[in-house]
Amino acid sequence: MPRELRALLTQARAAGRRAYAPYSKFHVGAALVTARGGLFTGCNVENASYGLTICAERAAIFAAVASEGPRMRLARIAITVDAPQAFAPCGACRQVLAEFGGPETEIVYAGRDGTPVRTTLGALLPQAFGL
Ligand code: THU
Repeated sequence: MPRELRALLTQARAAGRRAYAPYSKFHVGAALVTARGGLFTGCNVENASYGLTICAERAAIFAAVASEGPRMRLARIAITVDAPQAFAPCGACRQVLAEFGGPETEIVYAGRDGTPVRTTLGALLPQAFGL
């Protein structure tokens, strides 16, 4: 795996350690790089009402837009979970990633053990909805 992706996974793991997940105990971290080279991280933040929980991926995307503005474009994102196996991003996050990325946007996700999974947004969300 390219050094840049390994470094991004390390950033995602650091963000995941800051997750607020007292209900699921499922700590997720995300780190993304924008087309201009900006680095942004996010973690999941749960809520007692459950439904208000925000995923790590969307938290990272929203931080990137808040910093770079509405023209922010997503180049790549790394996602980690504090579990032995890797988990692919949820459907809601895939749709939000598609708002700012394209089919070629790189995605890498990893658990604690095993080889990180490398894929693209086009593979995870074919025929994405868009206006
Ligand atoms: N979660 C994420 O942060 N990203 C995903 O792609 C899937 C799920 C979080 C939400 C919740 O806090 C916990 O993981 C369990 O669903």
